[in-house]
Amino acid sequence: ATIHDQKLHRGAGGELHQLAEDGMPVLTTAQGGPVSDDQNTLRLGARGPALIDDFHFREKIFHFDHERIPERVVHARGYGAHGYFETYESLAAYTRADLFQRPGEKTPAFVRFSTVAGSKGSFDLARDVRGFAVKLYTQQGNWDLVGNNIPVFFIQEAIKFPDLVHSVKPEPDRQFPQAQSAHDNFWDFISLTPESMHMIMWVMSDRAIPRSFRFMEGFGVHTFRFVNAADESTFVKFHWKPKLGLQSVAWNEAVKINGADPDFHRRDLWQSIQSGNFPEWELCVQLFDQDFADTFDFDILDPTKIIPEEILPVKPIGRLVLDRMPENFFAETEQVAFMTQNVPPGIDFSNDPLLQGRNFSYLDTQLKRLGGPNFTHLPINAPKCPFHNFQQDGHMAMRNPVGRVNYQPNSWNQGPRESPVQGYRHFPAEEQGTKVRLRPESFADHYSQARQFFISQTAPEQRHIAAALTFELSKVETPVIRERMVSHLMNIDETLASKVGHALGFKSMPKPADAAMPTRQDLEPSPALSIIER
Ligand code: HEM
Repeated sequence: ATIHDQKLHRGAGGELHQLAEDGMPVLTTAQGGPVSDDQNTLRLGARGPALIDDFHFREKIFHFDHERIPERVVHARGYGAHGYFETYESLAAYTRADLFQRPGEKTPAFVRFSTVAGSKGSFDLARDVRGFAVKLYTQQGNWDLVGNNIPVFFIQEAIKFPDLVHSVKPEPDRQFPQAQSAHDNFWDFISLTPESMHMIMWVMSDRAIPRSFRFMEGFGVHTFRFVNAADESTFVKFHWKPKLGLQSVAWNEAVKINGADPDFHRRDLWQSIQSGNFPEWELCVQLFDQDFADTFDFDILDPTKIIPEEILPVKPIGRLVLDRMPENFFAETEQVAFMTQNVPPGIDFSNDPLLQGRNFSYLDTQLKRLGGPNFTHLPINAPKCPFHNFQQDGHMAMRNPVGRVNYQPNSWNQGPRESPVQGYRHFPAEEQGTKVRLRPESFADHYSQARQFFISQTAPEQRHIAAALTFELSKVETPVIRERMVSHLMNIDETLASKVGHALGFKSMPKPADAAMPTRQDLEPSPALSIIER
């Protein structure tokens, strides 16, 4: 029989489908060829060897063999949703970013929440930082605000990121523990990295075991710049505030939930959106200038510091609503590519050394993870505004320049043109200096804000922090690492240090740690080891 003898069905797009005998569409190969038998391979006789002419079997198995792509090197486990951002009022005085010009303007959004350290198949309620990555499809291109649910970070310098991540992931010889932070390598690195102490206080707090994504804050972490039409800059810190408020679970609940339902956070987001309870966050900003920045002892370029909200209250500038789940997890949530360097005109970077390193890193990682330079051709990553350029070819190119012209300038008066007026102008910050590898003095205080965070917590929350530190450090087998950690706690809060020290069986407390970066000599086993009861 030829196709003309078959029953045909016209699809929504007008295309003709061949119908199988029971009226369903005919199964085809990826090349569109109709398949007669999807249960048995082609063999020489029913009990004979398989034949290589079986192109359908070959294609089916080949495609299956290539289903996996590398999981993200960090933030591997995540869950995303679509929605929109709505601007409250014009911010033209501060920024020329188009999405902030008109009250009521809605910008499509995609958000991916994640844990950081676990693999793709790990459980949702790990004690961990949560990623809060937002892609806003603005009329001037995509803006990715790639944040976390904690407003500070472990390290001040991007060059330390591979060490941080290696230390938190499973140890390379034994490949355990898979669970987040409770192990020697992680605490070894942290105890040798005093700048991480503020972040550690947050990670040991209830913030690191949120009740659901819907009850979490999000933070841009770094200081960014707003730049207005007159090229004037205002420093800005971004905060997402959940409409539902903040909620966490207790540690013993987290442990049970992880066992009983490792998909707890996924299920929560899925169910709330599917039932029409759309989660919502307000985008708030802290706006300030250089004179204000100069009033602080710390440096606003240091990503281990916050600007306290009591000193500089946050200003709500819009709301984010998540109202639609992806139709396909892999195509959307897995293949979405966030990059801190995706900013529209009117939003710019500061010299925060962590941010500058991130701006360099994310393009690399997407190229590797998504298999080539054309990942912006995937619908989830493509801008939703008109776009025109002369980029062409490469693996999996889905679109190319049309016609004769793929360069400029050209004599044919064809193709897009750059625009000094509409285009992105980097803020013309004046910079000068000597080439050095040097941490600024203004980045040196690692304990004051850790202390402020600890004392800002309620008594039960403080007890949770002490219990979390005790639990985590009790899993550390190397005594000198425990001792070093407690010596850092001595600089944060002596009561906390002694609570943890006694729970760990210390007979006496170690001296407060030296805030300076340890030298190799400092790392020799110290006689102080003997104070630890073993
Ligand atoms: C992924 C946040 C620091 C490199 C992510 C994701 C988030 C995030 C939310 C997941 C994105 C997604 O859902 O797809 C942050 C924050 C940081 C930070 C808030 C500090 C404030 C860094 C640094 C580097 C880095 C310093 C490297 C220098 C990466 C890489 C990925 C990633 C390679 C994987 C991206 C992918 O494969 O899609 N980060 N990160 N991050 N981050 Fe960061």
